[in-house]
Amino acid sequence: MKKRLAIFLSGRGSNFINIHKQILSGEITNAEIVVVFSNNKDAEGIVYAKNNNLPTLIIDHKKFDDRKKFDQAIVDELSSYKIDLICLAGYMRIVSEIIIDSYVSKVINIHPSLLPSFKGMNAQQQAIDYGVRYAGCTVHFVDHGVDTGKIILQDIVDVNSDDDVISLSEKILAREHMLYCKAIDLFCNEKLLLVNDKVVIG
Ligand code: GRF
Repeated sequence: MKKRLAIFLSGRGSNFINIHKQILSGEITNAEIVVVFSNNKDAEGIVYAKNNNLPTLIIDHKKFDDRKKFDQAIVDELSSYKIDLICLAGYMRIVSEIIIDSYVSKVINIHPSLLPSFKGMNAQQQAIDYGVRYAGCTVHFVDHGVDTGKIILQDIVDVNSDDDVISLSEKILAREHMLYCKAIDLFCNEKLLLVNDKVVIG
């Protein structure tokens, strides 16, 4: 049985588009995207999903007076899709325990830094400002914190003296696209598990 993926995004969607292409090309196996969820109906990722006949689900967070009610609405809507894995891909809302506890060890995220450094927003700018020589990206399970969950895979890039936030973000994004697909393929082929709070691969 193919693993049923939900993609959560809020904007550009380049990671999602890449995941979709790698499923179509067979680089990611045993996976199907069954819904693309966004809090933003105008997200470029949603436009791509519609153009490619992928089911979309839009719930506007601004219609809810708190995060938990919003997340409960998402969980309620998602239940009929029988999701095996939620992939956050540029999803700009903090995910509360309502979602995490409904999908234990089934929510993963990609973050554009070598966690645990540079959590939160503008990670690439944080790396430039700090003056690190290496930056990168991390795929991790999502827990109750922000960018604190158990690390699944990481990849690194050099930071050169002439790099700025744009050039560094481009370098990292190219690695993100490869890394996220690798993690998803592992999960979908049951080679990635979280056992006793430890990530087990292979
Ligand atoms: C990526 O840099 C990802 O690491 C971060 O948000 C960005 C999303 O980019 N979480 P895209 O929407 O996938 O193009």
